[in-house]
Amino acid sequence: MADTKVYRASTTAPVNIAVVKYWGKRDPKLNLPTNSSLSVTLSQADLRTLTTASCSSSYTDGDSLTLNGEASDVSGARTQACFRELRSRRAALEAVDTSLPKLSAMPVKLVSENNFPTAAGLASSAAGFAALVKAIALLYELPDSPSELSLVARQGSGSACRSLFGGYVAWRMGDKDDGSDSKAELIAPAEHWPEMRALILVASAAKKGVSSTSGMQQTVATSGLFQQRISKVVPANMAAMEEAVKGRDFAKFAEVTMRESNSFHATCADTYPPIFYMNDISKAAIRAVEAINAKAGKTIAAYTFDAGPNCVVYYLEENASTILGTFYPVLAEVTGWKEGTAGIKSAVEIDGSLVSTLKEGISRVIMTGVGEGPIKTEEYLIDENGQAVKR
Ligand code: ADP
Ligand code: DP6
Repeated sequence: MADTKVYRASTTAPVNIAVVKYWGKRDPKLNLPTNSSLSVTLSQADLRTLTTASCSSSYTDGDSLTLNGEASDVSGARTQACFRELRSRRAALEAVDTSLPKLSAMPVKLVSENNFPTAAGLASSAAGFAALVKAIALLYELPDSPSELSLVARQGSGSACRSLFGGYVAWRMGDKDDGSDSKAELIAPAEHWPEMRALILVASAAKKGVSSTSGMQQTVATSGLFQQRISKVVPANMAAMEEAVKGRDFAKFAEVTMRESNSFHATCADTYPPIFYMNDISKAAIRAVEAINAKAGKTIAAYTFDAGPNCVVYYLEENASTILGTFYPVLAEVTGWKEGTAGIKSAVEIDGSLVSTLKEGISRVIMTGVGEGPIKTEEYLIDENGQAVKR
């Protein structure tokens, strides 16, 4: 009898926010970067993608993805590259062990949900592609390590390769033309430095102007400053950041984080025509972080910005009352504050003009911290008959 069984596997995957930024491709097709990068994986208790992958010979519509309840295109080169790579790994297993069901020949149906805004500069593509790759790898029972799977996720979205690990993660740029050495590697697990926290100030949940994919290509093509960045600035920052993480040196971690963000946004401004991801709200957040550090007399908070205006503030749990006690009084009205925050007493007073800019511009906050890599789960978004679960 023909095998019409529905095979399923589910995983969650985290977001990561870089402290040494990936910006520039040396090979846009394979998503090979011009520099290495390093990120902190954020807790899935607060931000996560949940993806169920399934396959069955009874599926008649070809490969499909439903994202947040809506059909999503899978014909793009990046998604196709992920499918192709994973299928060929499964086919290799099936060739060796002919008793295995021929999953590699079946259509794949994916259903995925992000529990945070998609395409709003909150790294949904990183969590999304990491979850897609991990879910299919589980479905296919691939023996590949997270580092091996990162090679596949990288082809979906560069930053996604770092979401295959929890904790503190480097993406080594590699130098091979085929990209086989351009993969993620664990610098330290979350338990090594579990006190790391992140407060995300969401400046705009709207879609961003220039996508990172296109923005970085424009920078590579036109910025002179960029050459200095990839040859000198990033290699030094990577080395310093690895040391800071290994030695749990927050002041050093923070300084490199802020310098990196500044350097990346400077190359954006040096792109011709210039690209501006930060706005007045972002700049107000920078000044607020500086006020916190000035008052503390040491560096206890660090800002960083990706390809959008949202500010991520890294800090250690021991300084939570200072950081939260500065931002909460200004942004008490927005959603996202965790229980207990309201009881923290006011800490650093920030300049009146900054207060009004932040009040007007920040629409929500997310309080989170360092967390784990993808986690296999028995929670399915596709039922045993292959139907999307109504939620
Ligand atoms: P962000 O800033 O959130 O990363 P991008 O515009 O860079 O925004 O990426 C958003 C794209 O990432 C989506 O259009 C989709 O193609 C992909 N993506 C996001 N979430 C998922 C998911 N859960 N599964 C698969 N792909 C996803
Ligand atoms: C500024 O990974 O989104 O967030 O590889 O084209 O999908 P593609 O780009 P993407 O770029 C992320 C850029 C960044 C920095 C970073 O995460 O390292």
